Amino acid sequence: MTTTRATIGIDVGTSAVKGLLVGLDGVVLATASRPYPLLTPAPGWTEQEPEQWWQATVSVLAELARRDGIEVVALGLAGQMHGSVFLDADDQVIRPALLWNDGRTGDQVRQIEQRIGRATLIRITGNAASAGMQAPKILWLQQNESEAFSRVRKVLLPKDFVRLRLTGSYVTDPADASGTLLFDLAERHWSSELLQTLDIPREWLPEVMESPEMAGRLTAEAAALTGLPTGLPVAAGAGDNAGAALGAGVVRPGQGVLSIGTSGTIFVHGSEAMRDPNGALNGFCAAVPGGWHLMGVILAAGGALRWYADAVAADQRREAQDAQRDVYDLLLEQASAVPEGADGLFFLPYLSGERSPHMDASARGAWIGLTLSHERRHLVRALLEGVGFAFRDCLVRMQAEGAEFEQFVAVGGGARSDAWRQMLANQLGLPLAVPTAEEGPAMGGAILATVAAGCHPDVATAVDAMIKPPSKRTMPDPAIAARYAELHAGYAKLYPALAAAR
Ligand code: XUL
Repeated sequence: MTTTRATIGIDVGTSAVKGLLVGLDGVVLATASRPYPLLTPAPGWTEQEPEQWWQATVSVLAELARRDGIEVVALGLAGQMHGSVFLDADDQVIRPALLWNDGRTGDQVRQIEQRIGRATLIRITGNAASAGMQAPKILWLQQNESEAFSRVRKVLLPKDFVRLRLTGSYVTDPADASGTLLFDLAERHWSSELLQTLDIPREWLPEVMESPEMAGRLTAEAAALTGLPTGLPVAAGAGDNAGAALGAGVVRPGQGVLSIGTSGTIFVHGSEAMRDPNGALNGFCAAVPGGWHLMGVILAAGGALRWYADAVAADQRREAQDAQRDVYDLLLEQASAVPEGADGLFFLPYLSGERSPHMDASARGAWIGLTLSHERRHLVRALLEGVGFAFRDCLVRMQAEGAEFEQFVAVGGGARSDAWRQMLANQLGLPLAVPTAEEGPAMGGAILATVAAGCHPDVATAVDAMIKPPSKRTMPDPAIAARYAELHAGYAKLYPALAAAR
């Protein structure tokens, strides 16, 4: 019997560990997933038990390893960014991990900005301080749980804790490390200046290896638990956004990803460290050595449409049910019949505050410009356009930093709608490519593993060999794009006016 060589990609996500078994040609041979709970011990706090990530990973690997005729040659890790796992001298977890979306560290964010200075922080790390990142979490532990803090000997990112259990090595990669607020973005190593100022011992942090490097080998113990071979190479891997970029085929300057899930992300790949001096965007290292990302996150993208469907569109939900149709298809169809600009109606999608570019947790949503002639379909059209304008706000900031774009690969549930994708292409004035397959961050892990195992010489070659070109491209209509550029100028005046009225 012939054996097929394959790698495994693991994504230590916020809701589950997802695993992919992938042939060296990029064909997905098997998938597995194990969910776990999100703990919210107090309002605004989010935590997870690292032990649950580990158990879920073991179970996913055991399922993927059980395939006849397949030789697994390496493993690669991707995962939720920014979280903090605190370990004692025996590598035991001291308390549940604080996650990327945990908001308890407002005081520590302010302290860090005072101690380091906002401009210095952005210059070194590519990021303004925000509550989710690792540095404020370390200070929070020090100031709030001093007994736990006194036992800390290592602080790891989520996927790097899983790696420790798999290989026994303390390693991270620049893509994930650049979300800690302790990392020098351009130099791709820990910033001794920041560590000194914040009194964080260098020994607490893992060694940094580039994403496609082999960061360790599977221990005999992990091999026995998973059924994979002892000594299996494990790639350094990447944070989830950088991992997903590889899966979308984004490895070269000018390429970017537009993701429309509950929240939305937009980021562009570049060949030098990119940062927004206002701190409204995130500057991160890419999973490609010598590559960087500039990224904006909007908090309500598909989530804004879901809110509308749930809270406002009872009639359309009934109509869709009677016609055995999807309510979102119906809403998009009705909105498509309304002209660009929704007859003068705007929508601000800040239903959960906003991250990029306003960085304002108190921002709120609004329809602005209502008249008697507006119908419900106008409300939906304006809502969809509001999400597109929020993305365009991020794009404008990226352009101001000299980022260059050719096209974005559009991923996530919202990008599957032809109507919404066309609207977004027109609003951004850029082509949106639709990937042939959408596998998310775990595919990035699997791609990096092929390089770590020496099957492909570098990340770009691996991506070219494993990711099929986009299945189609949605082109902007130049006349409509020009109209949207004018409309965006109007939209951009609304948030500052409302913020001033608070
Ligand atoms: C990135 C971010 C999220 C997490 C979620 O800055 O906060 O995308 O990585 O997994």
